[in-house]
Amino acid sequence: MSRETKISRRKFLLVASGAFPAAAALMARGSVAAGELPPTRACSDKGDPTPPQMAGPYFKPRSPERDSLLTPAIKGATIVLSGVVLSTVCQPVPGVLLDFWQCDGNGNYDTTGYTLRGHQFTDADGRYRLETVVPAVYPGRTRHIHVRLQAPNRPALTTQLYFPGEPSNEGDFLFRRDLLMAIQEQGNTKVARFDFVLKLG
Ligand SMILES: [Fe+2]
Repeated sequence: MSRETKISRRKFLLVASGAFPAAAALMARGSVAAGELPPTRACSDKGDPTPPQMAGPYFKPRSPERDSLLTPAIKGATIVLSGVVLSTVCQPVPGVLLDFWQCDGNGNYDTTGYTLRGHQFTDADGRYRLETVVPAVYPGRTRHIHVRLQAPNRPALTTQLYFPGEPSNEGDFLFRRDLLMAIQEQGNTKVARFDFVLKLG
């Protein structure tokens, strides 16, 4: 493990413990821009893996590699989602494939092309960052973003992320509170945080 990784993990654990608010400020001054890391669920040595959810009918393989799904044709409020992928013992996991897909602001999935679909890989510190638009609520489902994660040489985890404060969350048959993103408003942009925990053993 590199010195940088050790330091990053130490910062993360300090922040996760909630004991050192100053550590949060220190972390916010790191290479991920300040203000993009609102608190999320704590990881501990007993960290539970992120729960799986069904892929649904709209997953398509071979999405383009990109960390922004924004295009001139896409309308809607921008959301910047970032976080880290950790193991169940809170180690950052580099090189994890994250494949995101979602509907647009009208509730439609692109089933013929790759609009609002893209994959990326976590960096050396297990971090990822996605720019996209806020998906719509569509009949039968609350607002959500699909994602499939796969650490190198490990099975894939498919799940979904949810938006806090959505009236339709409680009536959604798949909604889980532990898949809620932490979201802050920064001007016209939503800044979201979600840390994934993968069981690698
Ligand atoms: Fe969906």
